[in-house]
Amino acid sequence: MNMELDDKVVVITGASTGFGRGIASRMAAEGARVVIGDLREEANPSGFDERPELTTVQLLESGGGQASFAQCDVTKRMDVAALVDHAVERYGRLDVMVNNAGVYRGGKLLHEFDEADLDLCFDVNVRGSFLGAQEAIRVFHKQGDGGNIINLVSTAGLQGHPRQSVYNISKGAQANLTRCLAIEYGHQGIRVNGICPTYAKTALTRAYADNSDFDKMFVESVPLKRWGEVPDIADLAVFLASDRSSYIHGALVRIDGGETLCRYSV
Ligand SMILES: NC(=O)c1ccc[n+]([C@@H]2O[C@H](COP(=O)([O-])OP(=O)(O)OC[C@H]3O[C@@H](n4cnc5c(N)ncnc54)[C@H](O)[C@@H]3O)[C@@H](O)[C@H]2O)c1
Repeated sequence: MNMELDDKVVVITGASTGFGRGIASRMAAEGARVVIGDLREEANPSGFDERPELTTVQLLESGGGQASFAQCDVTKRMDVAALVDHAVERYGRLDVMVNNAGVYRGGKLLHEFDEADLDLCFDVNVRGSFLGAQEAIRVFHKQGDGGNIINLVSTAGLQGHPRQSVYNISKGAQANLTRCLAIEYGHQGIRVNGICPTYAKTALTRAYADNSDFDKMFVESVPLKRWGEVPDIADLAVFLASDRSSYIHGALVRIDGGETLCRYSV
């Protein structure tokens, strides 16, 4: 049976839980061989993952998929290089790099944030994607037949939000990283795109998901009247990883139920 990602080798950072895990699961179901890089292998117990008692590798294998885990801190070049090399050693090549690992800091006005919050957001969200792109491109150049990079950005990278400036400016940098990469490597057949979701329920947004006032206000502000869901994002990632999206390049795809169109409700 022909599947969307037959035999493609995909590396996904931060895929032990949340979006990365959902993307890994959908990609494996479409025939991809998936390498997961994360700080730890277990799912985050504060998340909303399917079968959280299983690691992502166990989850994928239980569905007949092929997957492997490599411990990786995306802020460390040696770890990211070893992650990408692990994919090549294990599965022979690399086709798609998904820079998904991310951290969030919020709940404060700009003058209240510690520099440590700023540094963490930039280290993981910007430096992590930068290193992921560099190490993937190193392999893509050696292979000589193109490649595909997908960055998990956010609507926070496309606009301002109150009380999360350190996150938004890191996501803004990640959005522009996506554009720069697309300009520089398109002629080599290396496609680069960004996914820009609004709020979806994961460990990262647990505090918001548990806040009924926020839930009401947020759902009211979204024309489709619901939160994003992990499979929404995973389906888009599969499409961007597949050859069906072969002319989509440098796009920052909003996946937000229309939330960023307008602040007023009908
Ligand atoms: N959940 C949302 O509403 C939302 C919305 C827009 C964008 N995003 C983005 O999507 C991505 C995934 O978010 P999520 O909601 O799944 O978060 P999550 O907290 O559920 O999962 C993040 C994963 O990244 C891993 N990680 C963190 N720091 C790392 C590091 N230094 N090295 C390797 N792995 C690391 C964590 O261990 C975890 O497994 C992030 O880039 C986030 O900014 C999330």
